[in-house]
Amino acid sequence: MKFQFSQQRFLRLLAIVAMGLAPATLVQAEDEKSEGASTAEAKHDVEPVAIYGTPKVDGEIDEAWEHAVEFDVSKPATSETTIAKDKMATAKVKLMWDAEHLYALFQVKDPKLSDSSFEDHQQDSIEFFVDELNEKAGSYQDDDAQYRVSYKGKVSGGESTKTENLTAVTKTTDDGYLVELSVKLHHLKPEAGKKVGIELQVNDDPGTGSRGAVAKWHHDENDSYLSTSDFGTVTLKEKAE
Ligand code: BGC
Ligand code: CA
Repeated sequence: MKFQFSQQRFLRLLAIVAMGLAPATLVQAEDEKSEGASTAEAKHDVEPVAIYGTPKVDGEIDEAWEHAVEFDVSKPATSETTIAKDKMATAKVKLMWDAEHLYALFQVKDPKLSDSSFEDHQQDSIEFFVDELNEKAGSYQDDDAQYRVSYKGKVSGGESTKTENLTAVTKTTDDGYLVELSVKLHHLKPEAGKKVGIELQVNDDPGTGSRGAVAKWHHDENDSYLSTSDFGTVTLKEKAE
Protein backbone atom coordinates (compact mmCIF):
# COMPACT_ATOMS: atom_id res chain seq x y z
CA MET A 1 0.00 0.00 0.00
CA LYS A 2 1.32 3.37 -0.93
CA PHE A 3 1.83 5.66 2.05
CA GLN A 4 0.01 8.89 1.44
CA PHE A 5 1.04 11.77 3.64
CA SER A 6 -1.78 14.19 2.92
CA GLN A 7 -1.45 17.90 3.56
CA GLN A 8 -4.25 17.69 6.10
CA ARG A 9 -2.46 14.95 8.03
CA PHE A 10 0.76 16.92 7.94
CA LEU A 11 -0.97 19.98 9.40
CA ARG A 12 -2.56 17.86 12.15
CA LEU A 13 0.84 16.43 13.01
CA LEU A 14 2.35 19.90 13.06
CA ALA A 15 -0.37 21.09 15.46
CA ILE A 16 0.30 18.15 17.83
CA VAL A 17 4.04 18.83 17.82
CA ALA A 18 3.44 22.54 18.42
CA MET A 19 1.13 21.80 21.36
CA GLY A 20 3.77 19.59 22.89
CA LEU A 21 6.42 22.28 22.55
CA ALA A 22 4.43 25.23 23.83
CA PRO A 23 4.48 24.44 27.58
CA ALA A 24 8.24 23.81 27.50
CA THR A 25 8.85 27.19 25.88
CA LEU A 26 6.72 28.91 28.48
CA VAL A 27 8.51 27.19 31.36
CA GLN A 28 11.84 28.21 29.92
CA ALA A 29 10.73 31.84 29.68
CA GLU A 30 9.65 31.77 33.34
CA ASP A 31 13.00 30.28 34.40
CA GLU A 32 14.92 32.93 32.55
CA LYS A 33 12.83 35.55 34.24
CA SER A 34 13.47 34.26 37.73
CA GLU A 35 17.20 34.13 37.02
CA GLY A 36 17.22 37.78 35.99
CA ALA A 37 18.97 40.25 38.29
CA SER A 38 15.95 41.12 40.28
CA THR A 39 15.40 43.86 42.72
CA ALA A 40 16.54 43.22 46.23
CA GLU A 41 19.39 40.99 45.09
CA ALA A 42 20.75 43.34 42.43
CA LYS A 43 24.35 43.91 43.46
CA HIS A 44 26.50 46.89 42.63
CA ASP A 45 30.28 47.13 42.38
CA VAL A 46 30.35 50.24 44.51
CA GLU A 47 28.33 51.19 47.58
CA PRO A 48 25.48 53.34 46.24
CA VAL A 49 25.89 56.66 48.00
CA ALA A 50 25.26 60.30 47.17
CA ILE A 51 27.88 62.60 48.68
CA TYR A 52 27.06 65.93 50.30
CA GLY A 53 27.79 68.97 48.15
CA THR A 54 26.36 71.68 45.94
CA PRO A 55 27.50 71.66 42.31
CA LYS A 56 26.60 74.52 40.01
CA VAL A 57 24.07 73.09 37.53
CA ASP A 58 25.52 74.54 34.35
CA GLY A 59 26.82 71.58 32.34
CA GLU A 60 30.42 72.19 33.46
CA ILE A 61 31.82 69.39 35.63
CA ASP A 62 33.07 71.31 38.62
CA GLU A 63 35.28 70.04 41.46
CA ALA A 64 32.36 69.22 43.71
CA TRP A 65 31.78 66.08 41.61
CA GLU A 66 35.30 64.77 42.01
CA HIS A 67 34.71 62.58 45.07
CA ALA A 68 31.25 61.34 44.13
CA VAL A 69 30.73 57.61 43.56
CA GLU A 70 30.15 56.52 39.97
CA PHE A 71 27.02 54.50 39.19
CA ASP A 72 27.08 52.26 36.16
CA VAL A 73 23.98 52.45 33.96
CA SER A 74 24.53 49.55 31.59
CA LYS A 75 22.00 46.80 32.35
CA PRO A 76 19.80 46.24 29.31
CA ALA A 77 16.08 46.22 30.07
CA THR A 78 15.52 43.01 28.15
CA SER A 79 12.07 43.59 26.71
CA GLU A 80 13.07 46.97 25.26
CA THR A 81 16.55 46.18 23.95
CA THR A 82 16.90 44.92 20.42
CA ILE A 83 20.46 46.01 19.68
CA ALA A 84 23.66 44.36 20.96
CA LYS A 85 24.67 45.16 24.53
CA ASP A 86 28.07 46.46 23.45
CA LYS A 87 26.45 48.83 20.94
CA MET A 88 23.83 50.40 23.19
CA ALA A 89 24.14 53.76 24.94
CA THR A 90 25.26 53.54 28.59
CA ALA A 91 26.10 56.09 31.27
CA LYS A 92 28.24 56.77 34.30
CA VAL A 93 26.26 58.76 36.83
CA LYS A 94 27.25 60.61 39.99
CA LEU A 95 24.87 61.81 42.70
CA MET A 96 25.06 64.55 45.33
CA TRP A 97 22.71 66.09 47.87
CA ASP A 98 22.40 69.18 50.01
CA ALA A 99 19.77 70.71 52.28
CA GLU A 100 17.25 71.19 49.47
CA HIS A 101 18.24 69.20 46.41
CA LEU A 102 19.42 65.97 44.87
CA TYR A 103 21.90 66.41 42.03
CA ALA A 104 22.82 64.03 39.22
CA LEU A 105 25.51 64.13 36.59
CA PHE A 106 24.93 61.69 33.71
CA GLN A 107 27.86 61.16 31.36
CA VAL A 108 26.32 59.22 28.50
CA LYS A 109 28.21 57.26 25.87
CA ASP A 110 26.09 57.22 22.75
CA PRO A 111 27.74 56.97 19.33
CA LYS A 112 24.77 58.34 17.40
CA LEU A 113 22.52 61.06 18.74
CA SER A 114 18.93 61.24 17.59
CA ASP A 115 15.70 62.88 18.65
CA SER A 116 13.81 62.14 15.47
CA SER A 117 10.96 60.22 17.17
CA PHE A 118 7.92 62.27 18.17
CA GLU A 119 7.72 60.26 21.41
CA ASP A 120 9.98 61.58 24.16
CA HIS A 121 11.02 58.18 25.55
CA GLN A 122 12.08 57.03 22.06
CA GLN A 123 14.58 59.87 21.74
CA ASP A 124 18.14 59.73 23.07
CA SER A 125 17.48 60.71 26.67
CA ILE A 126 18.12 59.95 30.30
CA GLU A 127 15.60 59.27 33.05
CA PHE A 128 16.00 60.00 36.75
CA PHE A 129 13.51 58.29 39.07
CA VAL A 130 13.18 59.42 42.67
CA ASP A 131 11.29 57.98 45.64
CA GLU A 132 12.16 60.63 48.22
CA LEU A 133 10.87 58.73 51.24
CA ASN A 134 12.19 55.38 49.97
CA GLU A 135 8.83 53.71 50.58
CA LYS A 136 8.89 51.72 47.33
CA ALA A 137 5.12 51.79 47.53
CA GLY A 138 4.49 50.53 44.00
CA SER A 139 2.28 53.09 42.31
CA TYR A 140 3.59 56.64 42.28
CA GLN A 141 2.91 58.78 45.37
CA ASP A 142 3.42 62.51 45.86
CA ASP A 143 7.08 62.04 46.87
CA ASP A 144 7.86 59.97 43.75
CA ALA A 145 8.76 61.27 40.32
CA GLN A 146 10.01 60.30 36.88
CA TYR A 147 12.10 62.90 35.09
CA ARG A 148 13.25 62.54 31.49
CA VAL A 149 15.73 64.85 29.74
CA SER A 150 16.66 64.46 26.07
CA TYR A 151 20.23 65.04 24.93
CA LYS A 152 19.02 68.39 23.63
CA GLY A 153 17.58 69.35 27.01
CA LYS A 154 13.90 68.68 26.41
CA VAL A 155 12.23 67.82 29.73
CA SER A 156 9.36 65.35 30.04
CA GLY A 157 8.11 62.74 32.49
CA GLY A 158 5.11 60.90 33.83
CA GLU A 159 1.87 62.11 35.37
CA SER A 160 3.60 62.38 38.74
CA THR A 161 6.34 64.60 37.44
CA LYS A 162 6.62 68.08 38.86
CA THR A 163 8.85 69.60 36.24
CA GLU A 164 9.01 72.85 38.22
CA ASN A 165 11.27 70.94 40.67
CA LEU A 166 13.76 70.06 37.95
CA THR A 167 16.67 72.08 36.59
CA ALA A 168 18.63 70.39 33.81
CA VAL A 169 21.43 71.40 31.50
CA THR A 170 22.72 69.24 28.64
CA LYS A 171 25.78 69.32 26.44
CA THR A 172 27.07 67.07 23.68
CA THR A 173 30.50 65.53 24.29
CA ASP A 174 33.09 63.69 22.18
CA ASP A 175 31.43 60.33 22.77
CA GLY A 176 27.83 61.27 23.54
CA TYR A 177 26.33 63.84 25.87
CA LEU A 178 26.07 64.90 29.47
CA VAL A 179 23.11 65.92 31.59
CA GLU A 180 23.59 67.78 34.85
CA LEU A 181 20.43 68.19 36.89
CA SER A 182 18.96 69.06 40.24
CA VAL A 183 15.66 68.00 41.76
CA LYS A 184 14.18 70.12 44.52
CA LEU A 185 13.14 67.88 47.42
CA HIS A 186 9.63 68.48 48.71
CA HIS A 187 9.05 65.62 51.19
CA LEU A 188 12.42 64.48 52.42
CA LYS A 189 14.33 66.44 55.05
CA PRO A 190 17.74 65.33 53.87
CA GLU A 191 20.33 64.24 56.44
CA ALA A 192 23.39 62.01 56.30
CA GLY A 193 22.40 58.37 56.72
CA LYS A 194 18.94 58.74 55.18
CA LYS A 195 18.04 56.51 52.25
CA VAL A 196 16.40 57.51 48.99
CA GLY A 197 14.86 55.28 46.29
CA ILE A 198 16.55 55.90 42.94
CA GLU A 199 16.59 54.42 39.44
CA LEU A 200 18.68 55.63 36.51
CA GLN A 201 17.89 54.97 32.85
CA VAL A 202 19.26 55.74 29.39
CA ASN A 203 17.05 55.53 26.29
CA ASP A 204 18.87 54.94 23.03
CA ASP A 205 17.71 55.53 19.49
CA PRO A 206 20.49 53.83 17.50
CA GLY A 207 19.62 55.89 14.44
CA THR A 208 16.45 54.12 13.40
CA GLY A 209 14.04 56.81 14.59
CA SER A 210 12.85 54.77 17.56
CA ARG A 211 14.22 53.32 20.79
CA GLY A 212 16.46 50.27 20.31
CA ALA A 213 17.79 49.98 23.85
CA VAL A 214 17.08 50.90 27.46
CA ALA A 215 19.98 50.78 29.92
CA LYS A 216 19.25 50.71 33.65
CA TRP A 217 21.28 51.07 36.83
CA HIS A 218 19.37 48.77 39.16
CA HIS A 219 16.50 46.77 37.72
CA ASP A 220 16.69 45.02 34.36
CA GLU A 221 13.08 45.66 33.40
CA ASN A 222 11.35 48.61 31.75
CA ASP A 223 8.98 49.09 34.67
CA SER A 224 10.28 52.09 36.60
CA TYR A 225 7.75 54.46 35.01
CA LEU A 226 4.93 52.30 36.40
CA SER A 227 6.18 51.29 39.82
CA THR A 228 8.70 52.41 42.41
CA SER A 229 8.96 48.92 43.97
CA ASP A 230 12.11 47.95 42.13
CA PHE A 231 14.06 51.18 42.47
CA GLY A 232 17.51 50.82 44.04
CA THR A 233 18.49 52.41 47.36
CA VAL A 234 20.99 55.24 47.72
CA THR A 235 22.34 56.43 51.08
CA LEU A 236 23.04 60.10 51.69
CA LYS A 237 26.63 60.38 52.85
CA GLU A 238 28.34 62.96 55.08
CA LYS A 239 30.43 65.67 53.56
CA ALA A 240 33.97 64.37 52.92
CA GLU A 241 36.54 65.68 55.49
C1 BGC B 1 9.67 53.89 29.71
C2 BGC B 1 8.73 53.87 28.53
C3 BGC B 1 7.42 54.51 28.92
C4 BGC B 1 7.66 55.89 29.44
C5 BGC B 1 6.39 56.54 29.94
C6 BGC B 1 9.84 55.27 30.22
O1 BGC B 1 10.62 55.22 31.38
O2 BGC B 1 10.95 53.36 29.38
O3 BGC B 1 8.58 52.58 28.04
O4 BGC B 1 6.51 54.54 27.85
O5 BGC B 1 8.59 55.87 30.50
O6 BGC B 1 6.65 57.81 30.47
CA1 CA C 1 21.58 57.07 20.21
